[in-house]
Amino acid sequence: MSWLSRPVEGGALVAPSLLSADFAALDREITRMAISGADLLHLDVMDGHFVPNLTFGPLVVGAVRRLTDLPLDVHLMLTDPDRYVKQFVQAGADAVTIHVECNADLSATLDQIGDLGVRRGMSLNPPTSLGDVLPYLDRVDLVLVMTVMPGFGGQAFDPVGLDKIRALVAARDAGQGDFLISVDGGINDETGRVCREAGADILVSGSWLFRQVDPAAGVGQLRG
Ligand code: DX5
Ligand code: ZN
Repeated sequence: MSWLSRPVEGGALVAPSLLSADFAALDREITRMAISGADLLHLDVMDGHFVPNLTFGPLVVGAVRRLTDLPLDVHLMLTDPDRYVKQFVQAGADAVTIHVECNADLSATLDQIGDLGVRRGMSLNPPTSLGDVLPYLDRVDLVLVMTVMPGFGGQAFDPVGLDKIRALVAARDAGQGDFLISVDGGINDETGRVCREAGADILVSGSWLFRQVDPAAGVGQLRG
C-alpha cells in the first residue's frame, strides 16, 4: 500500500472518520466515501479506559481492509497501545497513531510500528502541550492534532489546535522531521478551512462529512 504525499499548496487530504458511518452498511458507506474522493480512511479504536467509550478492534479493521484499497489510519485511543499494535498492522493498517498521553514507552512503540512496516503517528489531546510531542517529531510520519477531547464524534471544534498546527509547520520547515499534520474533531467546511489555512495536511471529518447529502461536494469543500 502506498502512503500519502503532502498535498499541493493550499489543499488538504480528506479522511472520513468511520465512527460516523452506518456500521450496518459499512460496505456502502466506505464506497460512498471512496467515490466521493476521500484520500484515506480514519478508524477510531477506543478501549473504554483511555477514553470513556468503546468502539472496535482488529477484527473490524480487517473487514474494512477487505472492503477498500484506501490507506487506513488507525487512531488508537488506548491506554496500552503497545499490546495491540501488531494485531492492527496484521489486520491491514497503513498507519498506526498512538497518543502521547498513553502509558506505553513512546519511543519503543513508535519503533515497533515502524519495524512492522507501517507509518507512525502520534496524537495529542487539546489540553496537552505541543512540547510533549516535539521530542518525537523526527520519528513520526504523522502528527494528529485533536481539536476535541477524544471519545465521541459530533463535538464542537476547539481552536486550541490551530496554534499547534502552525507550530508544527514551523518545526517541520526548520527541519525537525518530515511528517504530515492531521487534525481531528469538529471538522466541517468552516473549521476545515481555518485548519487548512493554519497548515493542516489532512482533515479528519466524521459527523459533518457523513451527514452530507452530496459527500463528493463535502470532500471538495474540505479539500479546498
Ligand atoms: C473522536 C475521534 C474522531 C471523531 C471525529 O474521538 O477521534 O475521529 O470521529 O468526529 P467528528 O468529525 O464528528 O468530530
Ligand atoms: Zn480519530
